[in-house]
Amino acid sequence: MIPLALLGGGRMGEALLAGLLDAGWEPEGMSVAEVDPDRRRVLEERFPQVRVVPSPAWAVADAALVVVAVKAGDVVAALEQCATTLPEQALVLSIAAGVTLDTLETAAPDRPVVRAMPNTAALVRKGAAAIAPGKHATEADLDMAERVLGAVGVVVRVPEPLLDAVTGLSGSGPAYVFLVAEAMVEAGVLVGLPRDTAATLVHQTLVGAAALLDDGTEGPEALRAAVTSPGGTTAAGLQRLEAHGVRAAFLEAVEAATERSRELGRANP
Ligand SMILES: NC(=O)c1ccc[n+]([C@@H]2O[C@H](COP(=O)([O-])OP(=O)(O)OC[C@H]3O[C@@H](n4cnc5c(N)ncnc54)[C@H](OP(=O)(O)O)[C@@H]3O)[C@@H](O)[C@H]2O)c1
Repeated sequence: MIPLALLGGGRMGEALLAGLLDAGWEPEGMSVAEVDPDRRRVLEERFPQVRVVPSPAWAVADAALVVVAVKAGDVVAALEQCATTLPEQALVLSIAAGVTLDTLETAAPDRPVVRAMPNTAALVRKGAAAIAPGKHATEADLDMAERVLGAVGVVVRVPEPLLDAVTGLSGSGPAYVFLVAEAMVEAGVLVGLPRDTAATLVHQTLVGAAALLDDGTEGPEALRAAVTSPGGTTAAGLQRLEAHGVRAAFLEAVEAATERSRELGRANP
C-alpha cells in the first residue's frame, strides 16, 4: 500500500481519487485535505473509507506521495502548511496549471517534485497529461507520477520548458474541439436540420471519429483519405475548409495558446 495524501478535493482531486480506487489503490492508505466543509461531506459520502481532513498538515503526515490539486493560487500556501509534517522522502506531484517546478521546490525544499499538466478530460478518465521532473525526481518518481495520472488517462514525459506547448495543445485542446462541435451544429441548422437533430448527429460524429482514431489501426490522414472519394461530397467540403485556412488556423491557435502560457508563467513565476 502506498500512503497517498491529496491536497484539494475539488473536481480534479475527486476524479483522481475515483480513478485510483478503481485502479485498485487501497482507500485505507489515502487521505484528502479539503478546506471546504461542503466538499468534505461530498467526499466522505462518496469515499467512506478514505480519511478526509480539513488541513494539509494532517493529511501528509505519513504520506509517501502527495498530490497537489488545489487551485494554482493556493499551492504555495497548501505546501507551506505541510512544512513540518511532510516526510523527507515524500514525492510531491502537482497538477496545478502554471505553477513552476522552481516554485514547488521552494515550497517543498529537498523533496522530489514532479509537475504535471493534465486536461479536463481527466474528469471522464480520457485525460491527456504531460509530466516533467524536478531536480530531485528520479525515474522511479516519474513512474509513480505516471501511475497516478494513468488512472485517469494517458501520460507522456517532457522537460518542463515544453509544458507551455502541452498547455497550448492538449490543455486547451478540448476547447478547440468544442468550438468545432458548435460550428458543425450551426452548419447543420444552416442546411435545414432541426437544431436538436443536428446536435445529436454532431455529437455522435465526433464520438465516432474519436473512436476510430482511438482504435489506432490508422492515423488521421489515412482515415480522412478513406472517406474522401474522388470528386465526392467530402472532397467538396474539405476543399472549402482548406480554402478558409482551417489547418493554418489550428497551427496559429496552438502557437498563440503556447505563447500565452509562457507569458502567464513570466507574470507569475
Ligand atoms: N479542472 C481542469 O480541467 C484542470 C485541467 C488542468 C489542470 N487543472 C489544475 O488542477 C487543479 C485543481 O483544479 P480543480 O478544477 O479540481 O479545482 P477546484 O475544483 O477548485 O478544486 C480545488 C479544491 O481545493 C480546495 N483547497 C484550496 N486550498 C486548499 C488548501 N490549502 N488545503 C486543502 N484544500 C484546499 C478548494 O477549496 P475552496 O474552493 O474552498 O478554495 C477546492 O475545493 C488546479 O490547480 C488546476 O490548475 C485543472
